[in-house]
Amino acid sequence: MIIALDGPSGAGKSTIAKLLASKLNYEYLDTGAMYRAVTKYILDNKIDIYDKNLLISSLKNIRLDFNKSHIYLNGVDVENTIRSETITKEVSEVSSIKEIREFLVEMQRNIAKNKSIILDGRDIGTVVFPNADYKFFIVADVKIRAKRRFDQYKSDQTLEQIEASILKRDQYDSNRKISPLKKAKDAIIIDTSNLTIDETIEKIYNYIRG
Ligand code: DC
Repeated sequence: MIIALDGPSGAGKSTIAKLLASKLNYEYLDTGAMYRAVTKYILDNKIDIYDKNLLISSLKNIRLDFNKSHIYLNGVDVENTIRSETITKEVSEVSSIKEIREFLVEMQRNIAKNKSIILDGRDIGTVVFPNADYKFFIVADVKIRAKRRFDQYKSDQTLEQIEASILKRDQYDSNRKISPLKKAKDAIIIDTSNLTIDETIEKIYNYIRG
């Protein structure tokens, strides 16, 4: 059983996915963390993403593992370091590269094969698993998303700066040529602007178990 949760940054996907997975006793895959880990590898090793041959050979050196909701890059737990402002700033560009998407989509399909699993991302219901059993598109007003990010992370950025950065990422993710952020035709829209986390989970749970 595959459940796809897609939507823009800060709509609450990963919080919802984690709690819902534990309620259903499913596994959970944070595909955004995979794009972030690859971005970290590229920045740490100063790889020119536009040198296609170098990029393709570099991807062969990347191993991603998961353990207790933490992502490991070549054996190192990077769950927290991949949330830095530097990586957040660069990840949209890295995730617009075709070779990187192909590399990670294949990995995501392999990880999820024959599992009961919830995947959150931008293209799960449209590209990775177009035949997913359930597809949800999680949205929320940008001001509310910015406030949640502001409260969640201790950042030097003001609320206005976070809102501007979310809007920029939404635009980049929605307008890229390959696998843009887009609602699958058959996805159910869940607007979390005025819902608590518990209410959101209840709503999704009722669709699945309803
Ligand atoms: O969900 P997140 O903010 O951690 O995702 C980080 C970035 O990765 C986001 O800007 C878009 C990209 N991403 C993607 O292109 N496809 C996915 N399936 C997941 C994330």
